[in-house]
Amino acid sequence: MNLNERPRRLRRTDGLRKLVRQVHLNSGNLVLPMFVREGASDPTPIASMPGVVQHSRASLAKAVREAADAGVGAVMLFGVPSTKDANGDAACDPNSILASAIRWTKAEIGDALPLIADLCLDEFTNHGHCGVLDAHGNVDNDATLAQYQRMSLTLAEAGADILGLSGMMDGQVGAVRETLDAAGSTDTVLLAYAAKFASAFYGPFRDAVESSLEGDRRAYQQDPANITEAIREVRLDIAEGADIVMVKPGLPYLDIIAKVAAEVDVPVAAYVVSGESSMIEAAAAAGMIDRERAILETLTSVKRAGADIITTYWATEVAHILNR
Ligand code: PBG
Repeated sequence: MNLNERPRRLRRTDGLRKLVRQVHLNSGNLVLPMFVREGASDPTPIASMPGVVQHSRASLAKAVREAADAGVGAVMLFGVPSTKDANGDAACDPNSILASAIRWTKAEIGDALPLIADLCLDEFTNHGHCGVLDAHGNVDNDATLAQYQRMSLTLAEAGADILGLSGMMDGQVGAVRETLDAAGSTDTVLLAYAAKFASAFYGPFRDAVESSLEGDRRAYQQDPANITEAIREVRLDIAEGADIVMVKPGLPYLDIIAKVAAEVDVPVAAYVVSGESSMIEAAAAAGMIDRERAILETLTSVKRAGADIITTYWATEVAHILNR
């Protein structure tokens, strides 16, 4: 055959493939989400999330140290409180499990690893919604903002470097930015979950935080079928002061990640969520796929789509693989 072009030429050896490779995973861009359970004396496995635990104080410190040593870029903390109420008031308590975990982590690691704290009420409300409810049982946007503002002061005071605004309330970035600035916390970074979709893939996470949610979050999280709405959300969050914008989940929304990355001039993060990870874990455990290759391919796809930062439960493991 007389072929003008033979793309296979560049695929022949490991060396050639490496030479022309465009996308590289970097451990410094990985964020490790972690759960910390109030009163736990031992780490507790999460049945629907193989390999992930609810941490105790001691196991948290050890895992944070391991993540830092492996070169992971940041850790993200979620609290699992032992008491919940209608307004999630414990979230604003300086001694909440989340605020305590921030202080423990900071004491362990200092500024060596940026610490992200989740700013949302769902772990703290007895109805499991991300905000407070009005008289009709709907999430009250503006009343929730006031609670987020209080919570932001608690988390910043405890030492969080970055607040992850995951509640999908309108105006949450602006409200929190204003409160932090007025309190002098002008350096606290805001990571906005700008385009967060109402996804079935959050299922295992709700076990991890022992969520009491009945119903769904479709009245505040985005419809999975919409594209331009994601761009609108991102634009609003940046205008309100978001330092980093996030798309969530990851793999089912690669098109959104790509569009957002093309649109904005702030770093773009993506969250490979619980259900995405558990699917791969389950398929690998059943002998259906090669676990490590599936993990690396998934994260590479998210990076290739345009995410600068990837939040993944595999962060430490992948950092170890990249260091090999
Ligand atoms: C809510 C929150 C959720 C996740 C992170 N923050 C769940 C939800 O919106 O129901 C999901 C993360 C995951 O599934 O890994 N504060």
